[in-house]
Amino acid sequence: SHRITLGPLVAAIDQGTSSTRFLVFNSRTAELLSHHQVEIKQSFPKEGWVEEDPKEILQSVYECMERTCEKLTQLNIDISNIKAIGVTNQRETTLVWDKETGEPLYNAIVWLDLRTQSTVERLINKTPGRNKNHLRHKTGLPISTYFSAVKLRWLMDNVSEVHEAVVSHRAMFGTVDSWLIWCLTGGKSGGVHCTDVTNASRTMLFNIHTMDWDPELCKYFGIPMEILPRVRSSSEIYGLMKSGALSGIPISGCLGDQSAALVGQMCFQDGQAKNTYGTGCFLLRNTGSKPVMSDHGLLTTVAYKLGRDKPACYALEGSVAIAGAVVRWLQDNLGIIGSSEELEKLAASVGTSYGCYFVPAFSGLYAPYWEPSARGIICGLTQFTNKSHLAFAALEAVCFQTREILDAMNQDSGIPLTQLQVDGGMTSNRLLMQLQADILCIPVVKPSMPETTALGAAMAAGAAEGVSVWSLNPEDLSEVTSEKFEPQINPEESEFRYARWKKAVEKSKNWET
Ligand code: G3P
Repeated sequence: SHRITLGPLVAAIDQGTSSTRFLVFNSRTAELLSHHQVEIKQSFPKEGWVEEDPKEILQSVYECMERTCEKLTQLNIDISNIKAIGVTNQRETTLVWDKETGEPLYNAIVWLDLRTQSTVERLINKTPGRNKNHLRHKTGLPISTYFSAVKLRWLMDNVSEVHEAVVSHRAMFGTVDSWLIWCLTGGKSGGVHCTDVTNASRTMLFNIHTMDWDPELCKYFGIPMEILPRVRSSSEIYGLMKSGALSGIPISGCLGDQSAALVGQMCFQDGQAKNTYGTGCFLLRNTGSKPVMSDHGLLTTVAYKLGRDKPACYALEGSVAIAGAVVRWLQDNLGIIGSSEELEKLAASVGTSYGCYFVPAFSGLYAPYWEPSARGIICGLTQFTNKSHLAFAALEAVCFQTREILDAMNQDSGIPLTQLQVDGGMTSNRLLMQLQADILCIPVVKPSMPETTALGAAMAAGAAEGVSVWSLNPEDLSEVTSEKFEPQINPEESEFRYARWKKAVEKSKNWET
């Protein structure tokens, strides 16, 4: 066996929508040495509402850390070799807590949540020309239920504990990164209240040109600036772990999960892109040092800023709300599968949707439409349709949605992507990957180490701690391998199916009218 001399180790907390992970890498080779994963419960208290318990999220982080350390010890790896910890997280999800008691004042409102739909419609109606892009010049974002500002506004208006804490200067707002870093660095006894530029850029309160909170945006949403975390770069020491086996280790990397995947996939050049299949699906393309405004429904977002004195890099992003979430829905709500592996088998058993199209617009439609009133539909059913066809249609939906954002990306940049780099949990589904190549008509390339999101955060953390990061030495990359899926159907067949999908999307968009 090849036992490489262990260099310093770097670690990452990856707190996603559906699960939490802690992962430890060898910084010399990027080899994943050990990890642990815990699922996160989601609650749906009303139609369209999605919440998670902040304490359960924190607890899951501690549990993953402990279990991973146990596994390392069993492998005879000394955990004191861990030099830095990075945090990467589901973005936009909104929390408010009391800085004196350390207690959350409400559940976390998850990014997918639709409760602010009427607020968003009211805000858009008030803008000149009913323009959802009214704040785009500063934020890069359309006014939507997706981003934190409207969720925070809802909490202040509807939860008396939040309102009172704000009035009495005890409230702290944060996305999941801020909540975790504050708790892990000591919480009510000296925790650090901060966020990084990538997470901040998803709140709608952050000016992506000045790279700071924007007083006018805060005023627009009625948010007092004192409750906001301090904005830092994505790679610097924020604080030290206060307790547990990893006590004393610096937390020195922080990136929203989609930014972290871009870093982990080494997309550092202008024009490079990756697509991550998680709960949702997010295609990000690096645009270098300038923010590019989209004409085709994409977001402009901060990609990363890897050090206090380093320049910020921007990205164009196509966001799809429902990807892996459709698998969970087929499992929990319809009960037609018992696991995600079963979905692949079921779909593969027929190899076609038999003309059935499934638009999973459960949280409205995100990019490129930004249509909060869209709703999911399944159409094209016949007597012949069965659950296998539906399973196939669900996988195809993920691929069609990616095709839509890829088309928008190509139109915005004028330089079509010739292949697509992918990662995320769903990429272990080989049928999905083949379908994706067929529907995009370009090859799909998947790295053999799928945990690129965590790797990106660990790299950022290592860089701040002076741990020589493997990616900087291309000679070390010999071990990095990838798998390529080539398109196998003819383009006419692909276009025909895509055109049908577009018809289904129109029906889903016009659902309420
Ligand atoms: O914007 C939401 C995104 O960050 C969530 O990512 O991996 O939990 O689908 P994921």
